[in-house]
Amino acid sequence: MIKTGSIKKIRQLVADAKADGKKVGLVPTMGAFHEGHTNLIKKAAKSADFVVVSIFVNPTQFLPSEDYHLYPRDVKKDAKQAAELGVDVVFVPTAEKMYPKGFSSFVKIEEITDILEGEVRLSHFKGVTTIVAKLFNIVQPDTAYFGQKDAQQLAVVRKMAAELNFPVKIIACPTVRDEHGIALSSRHQYLSESQLKKARGIHAALQEGSKLIKSGILDFGQVRRRIYDVLNTYGIKRVDYVSFNQWDSLEPVRKPGGKVLISLAVRLGTTRLIDNIIMNFKQ
Ligand code: PAF
Repeated sequence: MIKTGSIKKIRQLVADAKADGKKVGLVPTMGAFHEGHTNLIKKAAKSADFVVVSIFVNPTQFLPSEDYHLYPRDVKKDAKQAAELGVDVVFVPTAEKMYPKGFSSFVKIEEITDILEGEVRLSHFKGVTTIVAKLFNIVQPDTAYFGQKDAQQLAVVRKMAAELNFPVKIIACPTVRDEHGIALSSRHQYLSESQLKKARGIHAALQEGSKLIKSGILDFGQVRRRIYDVLNTYGIKRVDYVSFNQWDSLEPVRKPGGKVLISLAVRLGTTRLIDNIIMNFKQ
């Protein structure tokens, strides 16, 4: 496995792989690997011939009040794991390389970035789409892998790739959960034991919502109230939103039909956690 921070080098490696007829898969990450990441990498290793994993804590997707400087970083450990999983290249650029002095070109997808996460994390998606567009241009992958845990990010990246004609297929990978149903996140490193216990309520609440809908309750207002109740029972008091949106346009919905994304964001201490489920209703 090759580890490089050079854009020129990665372009050459990918060009050589493509010249050999290989399909290139990209797994964009911010590092601090957990099983969610290794799952994406395994999927890439299965379906692509040449796998590039980028590790870059992207400053432009953090608000000034967020945890950019604190965000967990362990490139050495990540690179070792990537090598064990059969990754061909780990791309680890510096912030100066990705955003040289005077950088002023951004990619912003309108509307679907103004709701849900975008409502609280104002310029977050502009940072995500800018870095993902840059990675697509640098690596020119045939396929790119994103987790469903960040469902809005997945929808935004899909829309960007389609609308800006990036010749890349976006592959969605299921959320990886621990034995208590908690969706794995690098930010769990910030949680105390008692906060981690409370976090179990997130998936429990989503499951309760889905159970209620399956039992025939079709009023999402009622389902939302039940989800809040369950969160409360687990000691989760600060809820940013519980939302029902069409997958994957993210149009808000009031009752079941098609694929519905049920998503929520909560705060445990200073840590913000998100999770979701997608329910499929026959039209
Ligand atoms: O999901 C993430 O880790 C990041 O948002 C991504 C896609 C790597 C862009 O920085």
